[in-house]
Parts: sequence; structure tokens; C-alpha cells
Amino acid sequence: MIELGVNIDHVATLREARKGREPDLVAAAKICEIAGAHQITIHLRQDRRHIQDRDVAQLIQVLQVRMNLEMAAVDEIVAIALKTKPHTVCLVPENRREVTTEGGLDVVSQVERLRDVTKQCHDAGIKVSLFIDPEIDQVDASAEVGSDYIELHTGAYANAADREIVEEINRIAQAAARAIANGLIFNAGHGLTVRNLLPIASIPGLNEVNIGHSIISRAVFIGLDAAVKEILGVLKDCSS
Ligand code: PXP
Repeated sequence: MIELGVNIDHVATLREARKGREPDLVAAAKICEIAGAHQITIHLRQDRRHIQDRDVAQLIQVLQVRMNLEMAAVDEIVAIALKTKPHTVCLVPENRREVTTEGGLDVVSQVERLRDVTKQCHDAGIKVSLFIDPEIDQVDASAEVGSDYIELHTGAYANAADREIVEEINRIAQAAARAIANGLIFNAGHGLTVRNLLPIASIPGLNEVNIGHSIISRAVFIGLDAAVKEILGVLKDCSS
């Protein structure tokens, strides 16, 4: 089955709106876990706008499923990852003024740096994923870096006008095929919802999706447990 990583950053966004304790991030993670999520994803941003250092330390203690730590490849955050030892780090670009991760990592222009960070993570027993746009040169550079996974950015697909959707799906499918041919495991994420997930989940070889905003948004109306199960239902239909 295609696995589901639930990104719970926006539970922390709500908490940080009042800088208090509610909603409780650990409780949210456990609800996702019990609902059947295979992984909890969090992004420790340099500006600490949602996830805090203490969240990373607490979650690694209590999670029974994998932790996927999204982060910029900067020394301060790499040091936290090496100490925490999540199952996976997903290296993402970070721009302090962006609302969310806007584009994929430019792997082509920083192969050496990313190879070094990847090696440090591997030496600590951590798997590495690179969050990239669905472009062949970025996929090939990811293989050069020696990452384990690539996560293909599905934001352009999610935002595409109707007439562009098929083209975007083809771009993702071609990048995915290239990744698999290069020995990389193919994940996907960004902007995925219960309504637009099926075409992406139908791409051959997809291993995992990471979904945040739409699950937390649905949870406001139907609860977090139901919102996670709704996505799992789409993934189950797909792999049968
Ligand atoms: N994958 C990565 C690498 C991301 O940066 C994000 C956004 O934090 C997601 C997946 C989830 O995106 P969304 O919140 O739009 O589902």
C-alpha cells in the first residue's frame, strides 16, 4: 500500500497563534498514528514559526511510527537532526518570507553540499529524502547526491488549471520513472487533498505521500481521525 505521512505543522501553527499548549501536538500525532498514518512529518523551520525544538524532542520519544523531519540543509538544523535521529530527513528549500515551501530544492546547484549532509545523516543512521520539482535534471542530481528518496513537489499539479492538469501529471510520472530507474524511492507531496490525490496515487511506483494542510483543514469539520482515514481510503482504493 502507498504509505501516508501526515504533516502536523499546522496543528503547531494554531498553537503558536496563542503561544500556549493547545492544541496539543503530541495528542494530534497519536490520533494520526492510531488512525493508521504510517509516518508523522514535521518541518522544523529556522524561524520556528510552528514546530519548536521541544516538539521534535517530545515526538521522537513517543511516536511508534516513523518521524520524517523536513528541514533546510543548514548547520544549525542538521545538528538537531543528527542528535534526534528521525527515521528520515527531507531536505527542503527554505525562504523566510514564504507562506509554505514554495518550490523544490535546487539539487543541481548544490550537489557537493547535499552529498555532505546526506553522508552525515547516513552515518547517523538517518535516511535522506530530497524535495524536488518534477524535473529530470533534479532527479539525476539527487541520484548523484546519494539520497534514498526523492519527494516530488506536487504543488504545481495541485494549483494547475484544468487544461494543464494532464501535463503536470505527465511531468510527475516521467520524473518518477527516472527516479526509479536511478534506484531512488519515489514519494510525493504538497497541496494534495482527498479530491486531487487519486491521479498522483495512481502513478506507478509511488511509495509514500506527505499531506498536511488539507488533512488539518478537514479535521476542523470532521475530526482528525476521520480526516486521516479519508485519505487512507483513497490510497487503499488505489493499490487494490
Ligand atoms: N512535503 C513537503 C516536503 C512539504 O514541505 C510540505 C509542506 O510543509 C508537504 C509535503 C505538505 O504539503 P501540504 O501541507 O500542502 O499538504
